[in-house]
Amino acid sequence: MAFLSSRLSRIKPSPTIFVTQKARQLKAEGRDVIGMGAGEPDFETPEHIREAGKAAIDRGETKYTDVDGTPELKKAICAKFKRENGLDYKPENITISTGGKQVLFNALLATLDKDDEVIIPAPYWTSYPDMVALCDGTPVPVLCGENTRFKLSAEALEAAITPKTKWLILNSPSNPTGAGYTKAEIKALTEVLLRHPHVWVMTDDMYEHLAYDGWEFSTPAQIEPKLWDRTLTCNGVSKAYSMTGWRIGYAGGPVALIKAMAMLQSQSTSNPSSVSQAAAVAALSGDLDFIAERNETFKQRRDICVDLLNKAPGLSCLKPDGAFYVYPSCAGTIGKRTPAGKVIETDTDFVAYLLDAEGVAAVQGAAFGLSPYFRISYAIATDQVEEARIQRACQVLTD
Ligand SMILES: Cc1ncc(COP(=O)(O)O)c(C=O)c1O
Repeated sequence: MAFLSSRLSRIKPSPTIFVTQKARQLKAEGRDVIGMGAGEPDFETPEHIREAGKAAIDRGETKYTDVDGTPELKKAICAKFKRENGLDYKPENITISTGGKQVLFNALLATLDKDDEVIIPAPYWTSYPDMVALCDGTPVPVLCGENTRFKLSAEALEAAITPKTKWLILNSPSNPTGAGYTKAEIKALTEVLLRHPHVWVMTDDMYEHLAYDGWEFSTPAQIEPKLWDRTLTCNGVSKAYSMTGWRIGYAGGPVALIKAMAMLQSQSTSNPSSVSQAAAVAALSGDLDFIAERNETFKQRRDICVDLLNKAPGLSCLKPDGAFYVYPSCAGTIGKRTPAGKVIETDTDFVAYLLDAEGVAAVQGAAFGLSPYFRISYAIATDQVEEARIQRACQVLTD
């Protein structure tokens, strides 16, 4: 009898976490490395949020809280959903977990039985298929290429739905491509879903606030209220508020699902950190001006990045609407030879070459379900983006 469960054979370590750790290790060894692999803003958590966390400690809020979140944070989340998304959720519709990741995992574990299918537009965030597989479900990736700007079309959704489909996972703006769905595109998807009442939507709105050039965020239950009772609207404070280490994610949804997720959490991790919850109240209820300021910087970095990538021989890159990622094609580098004499055969070879030659940590498209591409995060210092190391690496490749 094997000691480790067969469940583990269905998943692999998170490639993005692997690249981030590798970059950290190389830096510790003294190498000049630019980490463009991590999905984490380089900004500090804003001061008013940090202060709220400290004040919670001083008030003695250091004990267990209700399993799926404090009444104060649930109230702040309901107000946020109403104010920013026009969504009516009551506290009993809200669940709070240790990061957005746990929210998604709880929802999948609470609903999937063996062979249930989950439609995942590809390129996707690397964790979706593995989480589905861990929960005994079957991930159904649907390829969305550059022709649809990496977005799922109504036709492709319709074609992917079967009697076994339980969820569609939607993520806009997207990790890894930064693509944002327009209101009309979401409407077209919701029209398909209305025709298939057994399919639920898990919308991962983690990058909601990171939007550029006038692109406007919208979410399925807001666009089509008839889908409210089969939508789980997932969000979190990690990215927009630079709170990745605080570990707070949340979701709004129908009571029966929310209760099931709380039951799972009661037997696994219990409540998310009490201190982090108090800080999240300050984040969601406080002033959002800092987000607009930071978005200006992100947008500037995005523009420099896209420009440099499109000047690099063998690469081409669409300009995304949001998040802090770009997803360039490296098709033109495949078959080329590095100065060390190695032939680049895949996007995995290409990112290995970038790290080796120029100390740039990026993640291969294979990890996100669409090759030959790679993901880079421009949530790093602007002068590092400007160094143009990727361009330099491409210039010395030969036929
Ligand atoms: C699309 C998406 N959803 C969810 C998460 C998870 O966020 P958290 O750090 O709050 O668990 C991430 C983090 O990278 C993400 O990119």
